[in-house]
Amino acid sequence: MLTLSGVAKRYPTGDRALANIELTLPKGQVMALIGPSGAGKSTLIRCVNRLVEPTQGSIRLENTEITKLSGHKLRHARRSMGMIFQEYALVDRLTVMENVLSGQLGYVGFWRSFLRRYPQEAVVEAFRLLERVGLTHAIDKRADALSGGQRQRVGIARALLQSPKLLLVDEPTASLDPKTSRQIMRLIRELCAERDLAAIINIHDVALAKQFADRIVGLRAGEIVFDGDPSELTSEILTTIYGEEDWDTTPEPMDDEVSEDQRDTGSYGAAPAMAVGGGR
Ligand SMILES: Nc1ncnc2c1ncn2[C@@H]1O[C@H](COP(=O)(O)OP(=O)(O)OP(=O)(O)O)[C@@H](O)[C@H]1O
Ligand SMILES: [Mg+2]
Repeated sequence: MLTLSGVAKRYPTGDRALANIELTLPKGQVMALIGPSGAGKSTLIRCVNRLVEPTQGSIRLENTEITKLSGHKLRHARRSMGMIFQEYALVDRLTVMENVLSGQLGYVGFWRSFLRRYPQEAVVEAFRLLERVGLTHAIDKRADALSGGQRQRVGIARALLQSPKLLLVDEPTASLDPKTSRQIMRLIRELCAERDLAAIINIHDVALAKQFADRIVGLRAGEIVFDGDPSELTSEILTTIYGEEDWDTTPEPMDDEVSEDQRDTGSYGAAPAMAVGGGR
């Protein structure tokens, strides 16, 4: 459903970030993109939604050639790609619900969104998604009162509100503790399975990539040096991708996962209860 062929990117600074990328992602596949810092992972996913202009090559999403789009056609295509950022990119002073609804910007238009008037169907769907990502209790909380894991869940709900065909995820667990990281990866995985959604997930944590992805692609200096099943990712291949020293971090397996919400209930125990605004 997504095909990159001959994709290259050279930044105006002269940095060659990608060279001759060939990649086909079938529907429903969760692909982890790994590689050392500067390998071109963020550049690759940003080329797909044209936040970065590829210098060469073709990117097709279903029957649409993404590289040739502009104006409203590009905006329309972008709506079919949900983007989840490392830094959660939430508006701190807005509530969880408002942050999720702001994913509708492309649909409802700037002014309507600015005035925070959203179509009823969007509100219903946002509520349903927040329930699915486990945030019903935090719907009226301001984004700046959330933990990192909760912020990431809001980001996921927001990306899904557009009913995308593809998820582009950049370092979803970079600022999270190991347990929360696993929960977030599991959630993304489950949502992809439920919705037959394909995903490209940039991730530094190789153990997480192996555990949660269907396929792993290794980038090094802008080139694909590995593309295969997680089980094929041997030490030798990791050395090819990362060099001798960087990759050897295998966290202990953890089975007793306490949900983050449970922990939060403990830490916010003395705070006033947050209203759950079902009728927004
Ligand atoms: N806006 C930019 N202008 C110029 N060069 C850039 C720009 N963004 C990235 N680069 C360069 O392109 C290369 C790939 O960067 P990119 O951010 O895609 O790597 P990455 O694999 O995502 O790294 P990280 O793991 O640190 O996030 C690097 O050499 C980087 O310096
Ligand atoms: Mg990056």
